[in-house]
Amino acid sequence: MTTFQLNGKSVTPKSPDDTPLLWVIRDEMGLTGSKFGCGIGQCGACTVHVDGQAVRSCVTPVNVVDGSKVTTIEGLDPHGRHPLQLAWIEDQVPQCGYCQSGQIMQAASLLAGTPHPTDDEIEAAMNGNLCRCMAYVRIKKAIKRASGAVK
Ligand code: FES
Ligand code: FES
Repeated sequence: MTTFQLNGKSVTPKSPDDTPLLWVIRDEMGLTGSKFGCGIGQCGACTVHVDGQAVRSCVTPVNVVDGSKVTTIEGLDPHGRHPLQLAWIEDQVPQCGYCQSGQIMQAASLLAGTPHPTDDEIEAAMNGNLCRCMAYVRIKKAIKRASGAVK
């Protein structure tokens, strides 16, 4: 049996232990902000935080997070006003939006450890998060805005 904190609440999913965390989050817990893109850890659409680290939930069996704190886009900020979320609105980042929760969760993990990243650090951290709408310039600008580098 796997028990973990999901956005601050203790949950014990009924899904088998080897079920991908993304399936549990979306289908069992009903939190659909985290997206299925590739299912093989290559696009970043499913990114969530496990104990503060960005993790690809599509390739993470749920039993791996036993005893951990999992945060999804729904739990990043209680009012949806994380500095990245505000910057995303200011810079009108999303196009279709599909990749965006993963982008924000990846960026939030970066800023938590590196509050004022360089361009190279942003590019290295965000390299595995794909956007088929090519919103990369706006994503980078919004990360810089959230870090205080763009007013
Ligand atoms: S859906 Fe998980 S990395 Fe693409
Ligand atoms: S905004 Fe459409 S995939 Fe990124």
